[in-house]
Amino acid sequence: MRRTQIGVTMGPTLEISGITKSYRDPVLDHLDLTLDGGVFALLGPNGAGKTTLVSILTTLVRPDSGTAHIAGVDVVRAPREARRLIAATGQETTLDDLLTGRENLVMLGRLLGLARTASRRADELLEQFDLAPAGRRTVATYSGGMRRRLDLAASLITQPAVLFLDEPTTGLDPVSRRRVWDDVRTLAGSGTTVFLTTQTLDEAEALAERIAVMRGGRIVADGTAAELTAAVGGQRLVLLDHDGSEVRGIDTDGTAASLRGAMAQIQDQEKDLRAELRSPTLDDAFTALTQEPLDRQETAA
Ligand SMILES: Nc1ncnc2c1ncn2[C@@H]1O[C@H](COP(=O)(O)OP(=O)(O)O)[C@@H](O)[C@H]1O
Ligand SMILES: [Mg+2]
Repeated sequence: MRRTQIGVTMGPTLEISGITKSYRDPVLDHLDLTLDGGVFALLGPNGAGKTTLVSILTTLVRPDSGTAHIAGVDVVRAPREARRLIAATGQETTLDDLLTGRENLVMLGRLLGLARTASRRADELLEQFDLAPAGRRTVATYSGGMRRRLDLAASLITQPAVLFLDEPTTGLDPVSRRRVWDDVRTLAGSGTTVFLTTQTLDEAEALAERIAVMRGGRIVADGTAAELTAAVGGQRLVLLDHDGSEVRGIDTDGTAASLRGAMAQIQDQEKDLRAELRSPTLDDAFTALTQEPLDRQETAA
């Protein structure tokens, strides 16, 4: 149980149950998810349905079936109320190029009902996102990374229960990408639940304590980076020649019995090679989860 900014005690911050959506083809297939605090990353390739899910949760798209609640509010039945609990930053920003950064924040603050405090909130956010000097210039002069950061600042004008960041660094150069990561870490400390979508494993790993992998309209894995890695299975016994290249690898399930079996498979002419036991990396897990053929998980299209 947690207390939201409107002072009501209720269940999880976000509860998704059986969300289904098809366009020409099925996109979301009875998707379930519960979140309560922290930074969550929904990881999936282009076209996986990430934006569709975010659009449903931010009340822009109606699901075909299923329910989603934000801090106890049904996003389909009470979209206006739900919108007051969330903020979202998409791949396209909603900033006015002709206004300065500060003017954008003040204007949005007034639209959100901050009357006299809008200017003060704008200055706090510009300071927090290291945009104070830039805030005096028109947004038209900003780089892509600065726009993305001003957009992040704008989404925090009033503290939302859930902040949706849909691929917040797609299209940014590596330096701007790191700056946005720093900003996400800053805002993650503010008590808002962050729902992030990303196509890249490194971003999920860098920012989220919980990662869900989406595939075929469903969540096929959900946990910490360590849990996802452990789920792909055991260790691999590798035999290396003197220059460190792998001569042979024997997969095990990590049990003592399978390790013993792997050792027994080492042939006489291999006994002087270096032997190493390697644990799967998160990269291996991601590859296994997203590239293995979908079988029973996928419903017939
Ligand atoms: N408004 C729409 N009309 C028709 N098809 C759509 C629409 N929005 C998304 N889709 C389709 O749904 C699938 C998932 O898209 P999307 O949710 O944008 O994926 P992601 O954000 O993971 O890249 C894609 O095949 C896309 O073409
Ligand atoms: Mg998308």
